[in-house]
Amino acid sequence: SILIVDFGSQVTQLIARRVREAGVYSEIAPFHHAAEAFARMRPKGIILSGGPASVVDEDSPRIPAEILESGLPMLGICYGQQALTHQLGGRVERGVSGEFGEAFVEVDDTCALFDGLWEQGSRHQVWMSHGDHVAELAPGFRPVASSRGAPFAIIADDARAIYAMQFHPEVVHTPDGAKLICNFARHVCGLSGDWSMAEFRAAKIAEIRAQVGNGRVICGLSGGVDSAVAAVLIHEAIGDQLTCVFVDHGLMRSGEADEVVGLFRGHYNIPLVHVNAETLFLNGLAGLSDPEAKRKFIGATFIDVFEAEAKKIGGAEFLAQGTLYPDVIESVSFTGGPSVTIKSHHNVGGLPARMNMKLVEPLRELFKDEVRALGRELGLPDVFVGRHPFPGPGLAIRIPGEVTKERCDVLRKADAIYLEEIRLAGLYDAIWQAFAVLLPVRTVGVMGDARTYDSVLALRAVTSVDGMTAQAFQFPGDFLSRVTTRIINEVRGVNRVTYDYTSKPPGTIEWE
Ligand code: XMP
Repeated sequence: SILIVDFGSQVTQLIARRVREAGVYSEIAPFHHAAEAFARMRPKGIILSGGPASVVDEDSPRIPAEILESGLPMLGICYGQQALTHQLGGRVERGVSGEFGEAFVEVDDTCALFDGLWEQGSRHQVWMSHGDHVAELAPGFRPVASSRGAPFAIIADDARAIYAMQFHPEVVHTPDGAKLICNFARHVCGLSGDWSMAEFRAAKIAEIRAQVGNGRVICGLSGGVDSAVAAVLIHEAIGDQLTCVFVDHGLMRSGEADEVVGLFRGHYNIPLVHVNAETLFLNGLAGLSDPEAKRKFIGATFIDVFEAEAKKIGGAEFLAQGTLYPDVIESVSFTGGPSVTIKSHHNVGGLPARMNMKLVEPLRELFKDEVRALGRELGLPDVFVGRHPFPGPGLAIRIPGEVTKERCDVLRKADAIYLEEIRLAGLYDAIWQAFAVLLPVRTVGVMGDARTYDSVLALRAVTSVDGMTAQAFQFPGDFLSRVTTRIINEVRGVNRVTYDYTSKPPGTIEWE
């Protein structure tokens, strides 16, 4: 495996992805915890990420001594290059202007990183983003590529297998970057590149068995892909020592609850408790219209219901969750202050401590698309695995203002038509998430010869890589007119449909 030491770059996660795409397992550890991760993982190579600090500053982050002196192959990127140079006896200068964006490097010499990829004398596009730069190489290093702004764009010390670059190979704007990283992992570190989902599945099953022993595990199903994949994997490991609990808050989409129950009871024969708590949730939501009040009520009630069910089942000491890697990466923050809460995310986070349970989180190392790949590996149906994300608070945050059963039903109908048309048009997989929002606004219309005064429905569809940023999806041709006509004709209570073109930021994907 490869350990990635995070110095706080915005794109450190991409390094992990590129390494795994090369078929090599990798984990990220923040620089101040890197020594522990190093001892635990026993990696065969190290990648040092970029970061916002300046090595010239006294208190800037350093490469831990254990790692620097390990004798393992290392790849330094941007700040990583500067830290290596500084700590190995070279000199880094504070930049006056910096260099940002597209640049071209000239290959001056050969080295293991360029094997089968770059020839001497060739020129390649890379993506630079740095203020400081290396002014004097540390002993043992030689330059192997240069750019107009960076004479030491790539440096190498073949004897110690240490390589470093000023630019970012992990971003797509460095077209050959993934291959450079792959060369580091395979040629320099000598890793075989055979890490796969089948191997991950087998390793995790062994790990779950070792952790759980004869114990009992409870898994909360949300209807989403992550918790379903976690549950199926755990069931494969420990069979009926697992019980799943599906708290149905009545805020699911059309047919969703039946699908989950059918999949678990019918397809997999996994013990499942289906709690119908629609009335409890809708009664509690009555009178609430503030988005945060709605989110907090749903989150707290979800925990109450889940806890009561877990007590009824009794004897479980483990709680399973479908937590993913982006949720657990301990990000390196240089701002120090707490970030602003945009939305209170709904999860069962408070539960393990409150119930004194231990956590089983088999997906902690995976990214969303890797979870989907694991789901397919486990035989989950493609339509289930490929589903768009759905928020924990469900339709409640897609009905601005007060939530009622009637409004949920109207939204469910319209949403189902929208998604059906998206699937018919073959667009479902091109979209990150698509849904309808029922607005608390009524407008005047005319149907037949009669006046109508009904609700407005907004349609939303976005493309995104990780949900952190998003763009409105551009539907082709007359798609939106077709959906609009169907919704107004088929859904009583809606007489006007709009399309939301807001990107994120400044918008968020959900409306509340
Ligand atoms: P926003 O609306 O913040 O959403 O742009 C980003 C992604 O997260 C989903 N989302 C949630 N998922 N619990 C979840 O599990 C929540 O409380 C929650 N709120 C938003 C949203 O659907 C989008 O995919």
